[in-house]
Amino acid sequence: MPNFAFINNKFVHFKNAKIHVEDRGLQFADSVYEVIAVLNRNLIDLDFHLKRLRYSLNELEIKYKFNKKKLEKIFLTLLKKNKTSNGIIYLQITRGVQYREHKYEKKLIPTLIIYSRNKKFNLPGKNFKGVNTITYEDLRWKRRDIKTVNLLPNIIAANKAKKSKAYEAILLQNGKVTEGTSSNIWIIKKNNLITHPANTDILKGVTRTSILKIIKKTPLKLVEKSFTYKQLLEADEVFLTSSGSFITPILKIDEKQINNGKIGNITLKLAEMYSKSCMHG
Ligand code: PDD
Repeated sequence: MPNFAFINNKFVHFKNAKIHVEDRGLQFADSVYEVIAVLNRNLIDLDFHLKRLRYSLNELEIKYKFNKKKLEKIFLTLLKKNKTSNGIIYLQITRGVQYREHKYEKKLIPTLIIYSRNKKFNLPGKNFKGVNTITYEDLRWKRRDIKTVNLLPNIIAANKAKKSKAYEAILLQNGKVTEGTSSNIWIIKKNNLITHPANTDILKGVTRTSILKIIKKTPLKLVEKSFTYKQLLEADEVFLTSSGSFITPILKIDEKQINNGKIGNITLKLAEMYSKSCMHG
């Protein structure tokens, strides 16, 4: 368990980190969040996370004005206090506390929650692992571009994966792949790297944005286009990306092996390039 969290405007012992029963984040999932990876005390892709946080807040009219410098200072203090060198920063902002009613008042004071957790990442090297996945119906709402804690459909699918001893569930909408329950999905076919366009059907992953920059240095051709279940199963290589998983190869989908159940060369190369860029900025 971490030692400290930051709630609203102060550091508190983790066991005393509490919010009000009428917090709208608790009652309505009226709340946004970010998960930021930490490698060797470095906050990975921090600017992209804060840009997306600002976007989510704006889209929901949650009036929380943050200062990047101040937030960064809180993150670094928490990493120190919690002895987190490798792990994640979890940040959540709710609309605030109000008597329970669906309609919200204008002048609420948003609740801020931040803490860190230690975590071991799957990075290229001796222990680099590929994972098994399943597919499941995408039951979510129509604004998946906003990073809200409204995550029940993701949780149902992720738990289905857990029951099948799989790492992730890949979500399908009308026979096409949207993304994972907490990751973006990519397929490689010949020289093409294909992933769903960043519209309202998926979350525009921060890791995804970084990969798009990296592939400019490779001969791969980027195709931002949705793809079918059939294309997924027939891909040369498949991988997922997220702040918790970086680039993680997918070796099996439902009962079908991908690349004979082995980590593909292109996936490995991209994972190496991305982890190097995270280490060296
Ligand atoms: N989830 N799609 C969904 C639905 C996600 O929840 C996430 C991340 C991603 C990948 O985004 P990013 O590269 O910015 O982490 C895509 C986080 C890690 C989570 O909920 O724990």
